[in-house]
Amino acid sequence: MKKQPLDVESFDISLCKTRLAQPRDASDLVAIAKTIWGGEDYLPKVLTAWISEPWFIVCEYQKTVVACIKLTQLPPNTLWFEGMRVLKPLQGKGLGKLMNKAAMELALQISNQQPGMLFEFSTYFMNQETPHLTSKLGFKQVAGFHIMDKYGGRILEEPEPVENPGMDIFDHYPAYLPVGWKAIRKSEEGLEYIRQNARIYASPGMRFLIGGIENTDVTLIDPIPANLQKELPYIQYHIGYKRNFSIIFPQTYPSVIFSLECQKFRVRDHNPENVPEILVFSRSAEL
Ligand SMILES: CC(C)(COP(=O)(O)OP(=O)(O)OC[C@H]1O[C@@H](n2cnc3c(N)ncnc32)[C@H](O)[C@@H]1OP(=O)(O)O)[C@@H](O)C(=O)NCCC(=O)NCCS
Repeated sequence: MKKQPLDVESFDISLCKTRLAQPRDASDLVAIAKTIWGGEDYLPKVLTAWISEPWFIVCEYQKTVVACIKLTQLPPNTLWFEGMRVLKPLQGKGLGKLMNKAAMELALQISNQQPGMLFEFSTYFMNQETPHLTSKLGFKQVAGFHIMDKYGGRILEEPEPVENPGMDIFDHYPAYLPVGWKAIRKSEEGLEYIRQNARIYASPGMRFLIGGIENTDVTLIDPIPANLQKELPYIQYHIGYKRNFSIIFPQTYPSVIFSLECQKFRVRDHNPENVPEILVFSRSAEL
């Protein structure tokens, strides 16, 4: 049966119900994604996996799923909040707040079984709603990373895989190492997660990690050498030529922004003060 179009004008948040996602929600979730970031949202690519995982929450209104948020377990003892989306025409009407509340209630239930848990998430520096929403829930910023993008060139060189990386991959990341937009806490368990969920390679002058939902996010493990241009074909090898990719690096690498700009990397939005574009927030389960 064809669904009635949503009546946005008469939206009533008290009629919204949150529940765990089910396979039948997929088409509504794809419809939400079409309204987010000009339709460039990665949500459709992860939907099937996320629905099959335990803590993907949706909000239903007039028999339509209009918002979602996900909790994911990360090592050593973290619940990672991700994937919050509200259908564009219903944004600004309190659904974000409702989804955060539902996710927080579920997170507190889970953390009752696992003492000492942290709740964490990352967000883009331009996303003013998210820190605003979550500071009320006790989250504080604990880390920040830069991210710059480039449309890849034509020349590719095969890098050496780094088998069994050690704790030294955290040398320039004293608290968290980013795998895509997920910040992995420095720990033996974090290292094991990285071994299983990312790939580390060595080019002639440095090591780098490829991870993230679309496998196009490259984290610099070591500071970049003087001749960055020589390293780029190695970085790009597993991404493929003529594709967009991103380089993520800590605030502590001096002059990386300038070196990357010289190689035509760009920050996504106007950021004259060079604040970190990826912000990581944390709070302990027990406040
Ligand atoms: C971010 C998002 C989930 C927020 O959902 P929402 O339903 O629009 O949020 P709400 O209506 O619940 O607003 C929550 C609070 O943020 C505030 N807010 C909204 N827009 C804001 C802005 N641009 N700057 C600062 N605060 C803002 C609201 O005033 C409200 O504050 P209050 O609780 O003090 O009244 C939604 O805009 C969205 O889906 N964005 C695209 C995807 C995205 O960016 N996801 C998050 C990062 S992964």
